[in-house]
This record gives sequence, C-alpha cells and structure tokens, in this order.
Amino acid sequence: MGQIVLQQVTKSFGEVTVIPPLDLTIEDGEFTVFVGPSGCGKSTLLRLIAGLEDVSSGEIRIDGKESASIPPAKRGLAMVFQSYALYPHMSVRKNIAFPLRMAGLDRAEQDRRVEQAASVLNLTDYLDRRPGQLSGGQRQRVAIGRAIVREPAAFLFDEPLSNLDAALRVGMRLEISELHNRLKTTMIYVTHDQVEAMTMADKIVVLRAGFIEQVGSPLELYKNPRNLFVAGFIGSPKMNLIEGAEAAKHNATTIGIRPEHIHISAEGGAWSGTVGVSEHLGSDTFFHVQDTGLGDTVTVRADGEVSFRHGDRIFLTPRDEMIHRFDAQGLRIA
Ligand SMILES: Nc1ncnc2c1ncn2[C@@H]1O[C@H](COP(=O)(O)OP(=O)(O)OP(=O)(O)O)[C@@H](O)[C@H]1O
Ligand SMILES: [Mg+2]
Repeated sequence: MGQIVLQQVTKSFGEVTVIPPLDLTIEDGEFTVFVGPSGCGKSTLLRLIAGLEDVSSGEIRIDGKESASIPPAKRGLAMVFQSYALYPHMSVRKNIAFPLRMAGLDRAEQDRRVEQAASVLNLTDYLDRRPGQLSGGQRQRVAIGRAIVREPAAFLFDEPLSNLDAALRVGMRLEISELHNRLKTTMIYVTHDQVEAMTMADKIVVLRAGFIEQVGSPLELYKNPRNLFVAGFIGSPKMNLIEGAEAAKHNATTIGIRPEHIHISAEGGAWSGTVGVSEHLGSDTFFHVQDTGLGDTVTVRADGEVSFRHGDRIFLTPRDEMIHRFDAQGLRIA
C-alpha cells in the first residue's frame, strides 16, 4: 500500500505562501519525480508528505487516512536526503538497523531485515565497516538501506544522488530503478537532473512557484508540453523557442523545436546561420548556431560524425510536424 493524495494543500511560512492550493494523487507503487527550479517548493512538498512540516490548510491522505493526526514516525514513510548523515562510529550493520532498534524490534527480526536490505543493495560484504571506510555511493546505499528496513509504504527521496560524482550517479540511478522494480513500493523522488527525471519516473510533476505546471509520463511531457514553461524545462539541451515573424508564419506567438528535430547541412535549408560552439559528445554533436535572425542561438543535434567548424556558414531545416506552437499566454496551441 502507498497511495498518497494531496487535496487543496497549502503551505505558508509566515506571510509567504510557498504552496498555493495544490491537488495531486500518487498511486500505490508509482515512481513519481518532482522537478522544478530551485525554491519552487519540491522539498517543502516532500516534508509536508513526510509530516516534517504541518500543512497550513488542506489535507494529505495516505492510503485513505487523513495524515494530520499521524506523527511522522507512524506514517510509514521513509525519507532519504542528499546528505546521508550516517553515524560515523557505528558499523554499516548498526547504521542500517538504527531505526529498528529505536522502534524496539527484537534482535532476530532486526538481523533478518538488515541482511535482506544489505543483499538487495549489495552491501553484504560491507556490514562490518564504518561509513568512513566506504565510497560515496556505498554510503548513499547505506542511507537507503536504513529506509528499506523500515518496510515503508512509500520512499521519499530528496536529491539523494546530488553529492555523488557523475559515474556513481548513473550507477545509483539504475540501482534505485531496480529497487523500485523489485519492491514495487511508492517512491517520490526530487531531482534537478533531467536524465534522472526522464529515465526513472512513471510520472513527472513539474512545479513552478508551488504551482503544478503539468503532470504526466516523461514522454507525454516531452512530446506534449502544455505550456512554454514545461517546454523549456523538460529536455536537455532545451527546446529552441522562437518568436517574431517566424512564429507568426505558424499562427503562433512562439514556436518551439527540439534540437533533434532540426537538420543541419552545408547547403539548402529554411534557415541559415554560422556555427558557434560545437559540443562533441561522441555519439552526438550539438551545434550552437548563431546569426540566424531568429533571436537566440539555435541548438541543433547532429550525428557525432557530422563536422562543421566554428564560423562555418550552414543551413537548418526544421521538421515541420515537430514544431510546437504557443499562444501569447504561453499555452500550447493544439
Ligand atoms: N522554514 C522555512 N521558512 C521560511 N521559508 C522557507 C522555509 N523552508 C522553505 N522556505 C521557502 O520555501 C520556498 C520553497 O523551498 P523548498 O526548499 O521547498 O524549495 P526546493 O524546490 O526544494 O528548492 P531546491 O531545488 O533549491 O532544493 C523557498 O522560497 C524557501 O525559501
Ligand atoms: Mg530542495
């Protein structure tokens, strides 16, 4: 079990409203990712669900039960933070068992759960080490282990991987996805990382200033962003947004076209410009094209084999059927 329903939830700190009335349903077993600019309220929402903050109004129901009267420890939710705060003087085994010892579980049950979590997280060989003798990724797994042993109805992750280096992040991202596949427990995951959001989520919630801009599967948001904000926020590198005469040709105030939907060539195309910075990733190359007369630099994705030099004059052809149109209010035109 682990359905979480937020109904007309608000949160203010003094005079400042951080979350205006917000409705959101997270289904049992779903992997939901919260994304949005810094300060938009992602951590606040997570803390409200966890019960670490009280809602100012509205209600949060966990498996149908109104949660206001349930203290955080009894909500059956486990939170994993960016800074994993392990006890340095305790072994991995004791760190993982800590919440169970606090809850007064008997020793045999503690051992059983710790061994099981360690096996799921590939920590079995490290149970007798101290946190100082582990890598960053292993430490983060211990923190997750401490959450798993509680057998929560839902896991709440607040940017759990942002202290790790790039390679470890990729590894841990896969491990958390596998963990979700195995446990099938509801997970809410806050991240700044586009790739994490796109690859891990069943459902992405895009927030801005406490408002939900859009909720949907990663591909729904990618293919059909409902407004300019979501269009510009989801996807890396960003969708190109073009205003003015070019947009007017499409009966829109703004048009959007993703870098992979523009073809770059040495001659013949709808737009022309000069190559600025090129980013060679091996498999792909991103060209940042200037002097197109379209406003900002236009970013184009090409095959890694394609080579143009800085200053080359090139032509661009957008795929017409991939152009997104937005009105003066920034809303998508169907
Ligand atoms: N205890 C508090 N008192 C007053 N304001 C707060 C408090 N906690 C958070 N805020 C404010 O609420 C807003 C949302 O903060 P929150 O931490 O939820 O953002 P976030 O989306 O998690 O940002 P980030 O991506 O930087 O972690 C911010 O403007 C923040 O300053
Ligand atoms: Mg935060």
